[in-house]
Amino acid sequence: MKIDLILGLQWGDEGKGKIVDFLTNDYNIIARFQGGPNAGHTLEFDGIKHVLHTIPSGIFHENKINLIGNGVVIDPVIFKEEIEKLKELNVDLSNKLLISRKAHLILPTHRLIDKASELSKGKKKIGSTLKGIGPTYMDKTGRNGLRIGDLELDGWEDKLNTLTNKHLNLINNFNVDIDFDINKLVEEFTNSINFIKSLRFIDSEHYLNESINNGKKILGEGAQGSLLDIDFGTYPYVTSSNTTAAGACTGLGIAPNKINNVFGIFKAYTTRVGSGPFPTELKDETGERMAKIGNEFGATTGRPRRCGWLDLVILKHSIIVNGVTELIMMKGDVLSGIDRIKVCTKYKYKGETIDYLPYSIEDENIEPIYEEISGWDEDITKIKSFTDLPQNFKNYINFLEDSLNVKIKIVSVGPNRTQTIFV
Ligand code: IMP
Repeated sequence: MKIDLILGLQWGDEGKGKIVDFLTNDYNIIARFQGGPNAGHTLEFDGIKHVLHTIPSGIFHENKINLIGNGVVIDPVIFKEEIEKLKELNVDLSNKLLISRKAHLILPTHRLIDKASELSKGKKKIGSTLKGIGPTYMDKTGRNGLRIGDLELDGWEDKLNTLTNKHLNLINNFNVDIDFDINKLVEEFTNSINFIKSLRFIDSEHYLNESINNGKKILGEGAQGSLLDIDFGTYPYVTSSNTTAAGACTGLGIAPNKINNVFGIFKAYTTRVGSGPFPTELKDETGERMAKIGNEFGATTGRPRRCGWLDLVILKHSIIVNGVTELIMMKGDVLSGIDRIKVCTKYKYKGETIDYLPYSIEDENIEPIYEEISGWDEDITKIKSFTDLPQNFKNYINFLEDSLNVKIKIVSVGPNRTQTIFV
């Protein structure tokens, strides 16, 4: 037995939550491997919308283990709220939520540093979700972090104090105006820690490898998207973890040869939230229409998402870096009613035509080159089988498969679990 992965191929918000929930029946364990509460995984069923930030998207299923891997960063305050919300819905977490002892904790001062750093950058700000993600990963790689496993040892409060004081000095150095009450923040943090200490902490790398040896099926759940990867994304406008397949190896302790299928998920168009280059962005009526029909507002921050045409140069880059074996296309329904659909297949880059992602895709260097495809008018949100989809929708799928050289396995035609079609 091996592990399958599901990863976003664009700038995040592709719809991973919905598909993980949909695929969970086929797996025993769902494991998140990177990111933190900057993610907002939205699931919809039985008329209710659920947004998960830290907890894997298999949590609503009975008898499935949901594991938070060592690569994830956890904010105990947000985590506690998330758990309390699930308890209100009678979701029993006691036997199905496991947390790696090696996962790092987001301190309140990490959030403050995020804010101070963004303020100090002015127009060049990253557009961070301000959840303290970057500063927490900085402390991880700087070898200063506080980890879940520390909570089982004596002296974690001393570590917290030392780190908090160090952070307060750092915040001072930014020389920006932010208001906060550190005593209140630390009290809230400590209360949340006392709450999460009742959860199950494990050595997850051993647990996962033993599970593989015992024939269990595991799905690794990515957060954000490949273009937000710290190495292969649009740096510096990225997040601070490896969102690509390699991040699953380091974020779970799984060897590369244990990875089987890599499901790459993308929207039928492109969105981005936060700053940074976006070659196919539409600042016109079509972009506004995508945002409105696609309800393109961030699940974590509520910020409007920027929208544009599908970019195959980006998808090809993500397919290669992740070793994608099968594709999943989301939100095909949002394109219904657009007469001519454009797809970017190449870039004009510094006067040359190229089909790969160059070092810098700042707007002044890049001009997208498009191909046009006829659209469809029909409402496809109630269609249940691939054969019933409009011919032009199928043509769109065929065009993408031919261009990308990878099969599309699933198309999604609405936010609900039931609006999911196998191709
Ligand atoms: P951070 O990870 O919160 O620091 O944000 C860095 C960049 O990644 C910003 O542009 C965010 O908008 C973006 N980002 C972070 N998490 C997500 C996500 O889950 N979906 C989409 N964009 C995200």
